[in-house]
Amino acid sequence: MACIMDGNGRWAQQRGLERTEGHSAGEAAITATVQAAHDMGIKWLTLFAFSTENWRRPQPEVDYLMRFNQRVIRNNAPRWRSMGMRMRYLGALDAPVPDFLREDIMQVEELTAANTGMTLTTAFNHGGRRDLVNAVRSLIGTGITAEDVNEKTLAQHMQLPDLPDVDLLIRTSGEHRLSNFLLWQMAYAEMYFSPVLWPDFRAEHLARAVASYHNRQRRYGTASTEALPEQRATTPLTLH
Ligand code: IPE
Ligand code: IPE
Ligand code: MG
Repeated sequence: MACIMDGNGRWAQQRGLERTEGHSAGEAAITATVQAAHDMGIKWLTLFAFSTENWRRPQPEVDYLMRFNQRVIRNNAPRWRSMGMRMRYLGALDAPVPDFLREDIMQVEELTAANTGMTLTTAFNHGGRRDLVNAVRSLIGTGITAEDVNEKTLAQHMQLPDLPDVDLLIRTSGEHRLSNFLLWQMAYAEMYFSPVLWPDFRAEHLARAVASYHNRQRRYGTASTEALPEQRATTPLTLH
């Protein structure tokens, strides 16, 4: 399962607050969503926290988001770690990502690397296209011949090759776009768009999204209107 956590700015605007207050309020939604996903037995959860395009925002907001992401780690990682979760990051951690954040990220990745519970991936300074370009570069670097390039070999060169295809994508705030998120892994994702602004998103909203997913028919290009049994989206919440 993957989430585009959107609508923080509008949440703040509606209350006459600074946009940064909306990000801050988003922490409660992160905490609630991670807990609910864990409780549902979801094995893979990926949250989009900062895109390669988000550097275009005003510098004070960007600075705030760097600090905010550190705060989320510091406030939550000990608990998530004790819940057996593996935490990791998808995206580039070199500059302009500040040292203080990179250090915390690397530490938390190391501390939770051997955990076998839910894998919580935070997409941070991530862009789906850049991930693909990097995969192509890495693959070419192996000296591979053109005829050996296929979906499998390319997938092996993505930054996180074990990240499964997305079963369910949730985007909050009523926007209906991917914004360059996990393009490769999203090929057959079921999509769920919620009008709820991210800071208001809670377990009940997640439950609604998952219920909607379970009513979908995943056809993968087949002609039947009745999905094959193994294609019904009833996978017992090993959802990504
Ligand atoms: C999502 O909320 C958080 C990030 C992109 C970091 P936004 O900040 O995009 O909120 P809106 O879309 O402006 O309301
Ligand atoms: C996508 O949201 C990125 C994150 C949620 C981190 P944006 O709010 O940045 O996306 P656009 O610009 O509206 O497409
Ligand atoms: Mg937005």
